[in-house]
Amino acid sequence: MAQYVRGAAAVAVIRICNPPLNTLSIKTLQALQQEVQHANIDPTVKAVVICGANGKFSAGADIKLFSNPEQRSSPSLGSIIDLIEKSDKPMVAAIESLALGGGLEVALGCHYRIAHVQARVGLPEVTVGLLPGAGGTQRLPRLTGVPAALDIITTGKHIWAPEALKLGIIDEIVEENTVEAAIQLAERVSDQPVGPRRVCSKQIPRLPNMEAIIEEALVKVKKQAGGCLAPEMCFQAVEASLRLSFEEGIRKERELFLFLLSSGQAKALQYAFFAQRAMEKWTLPSGASWKTAVPQPIKRAAVIGLGTMGQGIVVSLVRAKIPVVALEQDKNHLEMGRRAVMAFLDREALRRQPNGQVLDVHKPGLLHFTLDFNALQDVDLVIEAVFEDMALKKEIFQKLSTICKPEAFLCTNTSSLDIDGIAAVTNRPHQVIGAHFFSPAHRMKLLEVIYGHHTSPTTIATVMSLGKAIGKIGVLVGNCFGFVGNRLLLPYNEQTYFLVEEGSTPEEVDKALIGFGFKMGPFQVSDLAGLDVGWRIRKEKGLARASLPLGTLPRQENGRRYSPLPDFLCDQGRYGQKTGKGWYQYDKPGGRVPKSDPWIHSFLSDYRNIHNITVRTVTQDEILERCLYSLANEGFRILSDGIASCPEAIDTIYINGYGWPRHRGGPMFYASEVGLPTVLAKLQKYAEANPDIPSLQPSPLLQKLVALGSPPVSEWSSLVGSQNSKL
Ligand code: NAI
Repeated sequence: MAQYVRGAAAVAVIRICNPPLNTLSIKTLQALQQEVQHANIDPTVKAVVICGANGKFSAGADIKLFSNPEQRSSPSLGSIIDLIEKSDKPMVAAIESLALGGGLEVALGCHYRIAHVQARVGLPEVTVGLLPGAGGTQRLPRLTGVPAALDIITTGKHIWAPEALKLGIIDEIVEENTVEAAIQLAERVSDQPVGPRRVCSKQIPRLPNMEAIIEEALVKVKKQAGGCLAPEMCFQAVEASLRLSFEEGIRKERELFLFLLSSGQAKALQYAFFAQRAMEKWTLPSGASWKTAVPQPIKRAAVIGLGTMGQGIVVSLVRAKIPVVALEQDKNHLEMGRRAVMAFLDREALRRQPNGQVLDVHKPGLLHFTLDFNALQDVDLVIEAVFEDMALKKEIFQKLSTICKPEAFLCTNTSSLDIDGIAAVTNRPHQVIGAHFFSPAHRMKLLEVIYGHHTSPTTIATVMSLGKAIGKIGVLVGNCFGFVGNRLLLPYNEQTYFLVEEGSTPEEVDKALIGFGFKMGPFQVSDLAGLDVGWRIRKEKGLARASLPLGTLPRQENGRRYSPLPDFLCDQGRYGQKTGKGWYQYDKPGGRVPKSDPWIHSFLSDYRNIHNITVRTVTQDEILERCLYSLANEGFRILSDGIASCPEAIDTIYINGYGWPRHRGGPMFYASEVGLPTVLAKLQKYAEANPDIPSLQPSPLLQKLVALGSPPVSEWSSLVGSQNSKL
């Protein structure tokens, strides 16, 4: 609720009040409208300050309101902002902490804006599939110019106050007492005309090469959008500010906003937003949750193994100012790891920190590189990231048991191995847990947190809280081969191999999935990550088809189809980008741009001939259906097994760790949008045609949900329980 407080010298202070973030709920909007109307007609009020309660301006509209019919009868944010802007009394926005979305739009309607130096502003609507619909796309470019407005609105990025000052979004920054400073400003300008201060009547700053800039921006927006509509609609709205009058621009903004609101993408993006938020409220099948456990402080951590993953994990911890002991097996690897970590951190330190703070990576005690396990005696938590080798991991965890203090938590970054097997060799299985980062670990947001049979809620709470502290999205999952993310990937990857065996090409499969919205196709990803990674794991498990001539490569085992293609390519030294050849060819080892490789096509043709595979045309629809539905099908199995607590967990993992297009909402949401009966029917059809591919057999949970009338995703978790008890 807004409050109407009499300020000094006839300045009214209106506080937007809806804790914790002062989102603009229907009630808050009604109160804001009333208070502005009161201030406008009260003859004793000469000027107005609008601020937020409890030191926060406003985080903007309440996303849940977009689908609320009551919203239609409440005052629109746009009309309240008009009321503010059209007022003859100077209106001053006092921005503390954050002014995002509708919050910033309110501030843009004011005649003056003062912000605290550590405040952030932004219009992040694009991230939930929308655009700023209360004049933001028309007012912001009038202050910053079109290029900066396009950058801010099409990406949804947050801008720190010093940068916002430079861009002209705010007029002044202060280091303290923002509201007091705003009141003083309001007093100073109380008798000045507000006409020239109204953003709506400002001219858009024009640049001589504006058309070329616009064209270039559109190409960039389209490239980054990957099929997501909102960035391009944001672009069109901002472009309208350049070509149309303010009023016409507002009408265009409204039209585009309503188009996005009714698109399935906004629904998917908002689902993804809430799914991610729900992950913080983790629960175990036993019912234990974040409510029952207190995270322990991690004042010092250790990382073992400074290869690809260890380096990124060290960087993530140091960025969050957590002192790290980094340990390697020999001098050579230690030096390589140290150089890579320091080069990255030094680059990072050079970059201006957004909030003006400096990251002093050379601060004594922040980073200690060592070969000596005894240096781990007093750390609070260890993250092991050595080779994916069970014997080696067990050896390390045994050592940690004897060296680390009893309270220390022991985490493994394994991507597939059994957490219980590792915990069993320690003297503290309740403090052992999987902390599965994704590559590159300093950039990827996902952290799969895997609890074992003995892992305590305190251990889970501690690692979930550490994940949050280092900017990751922690998702708690159960222990099984590949956990959630990599387990789902198996049937998906398998389909891609079978499809090329049956007549498709890596290019066609990649094209179909890129068209769906993935940034890269599965074969491109495989070349990037290295085909040898999976090959080594398969060899260790005795599953790889080593060095057999083409004609003798088996395609079936115990009646189950198996594709030997990736093993065969590895036998040929085709590891992907690192060797310059994989499913594609590259100009040199380490090359990045995939080119179609005639060798692969003729190899596939020979392979099909030898195995008497009748080549057929595989349609784009079949590629998508077989890959995506088998992925979701495994998701239903994972839910039945209790490995993921809810479909939202699977979707959050796929969006943040596996490149699933966010505007498609994740594989489980996608399945529900396609329609569970359709997914079931297609799986049945493909399973009948391919009886030797068990992963195409529809999962019992999917069948049950269809029989129950395909309830919405939010109801699936409660239905899984009865599914489990039936089994
Ligand atoms: P890597 O081969 O790049 O690095 C492993 C490092 O561990 C090497 O620098 C090696 O010298 C060091 N090491 C080996 N034995 C050691 C010992 N006894 N003491 C100290 N250091 C030792 O491996 P990568 O890719 O970083 O993988 C590490 C772990 O992370 C594996 O369990 C892997 O499955 C997992 N993982 C890997 C991902 C990836 O994309 N590479 C993604 C997620 C998890």
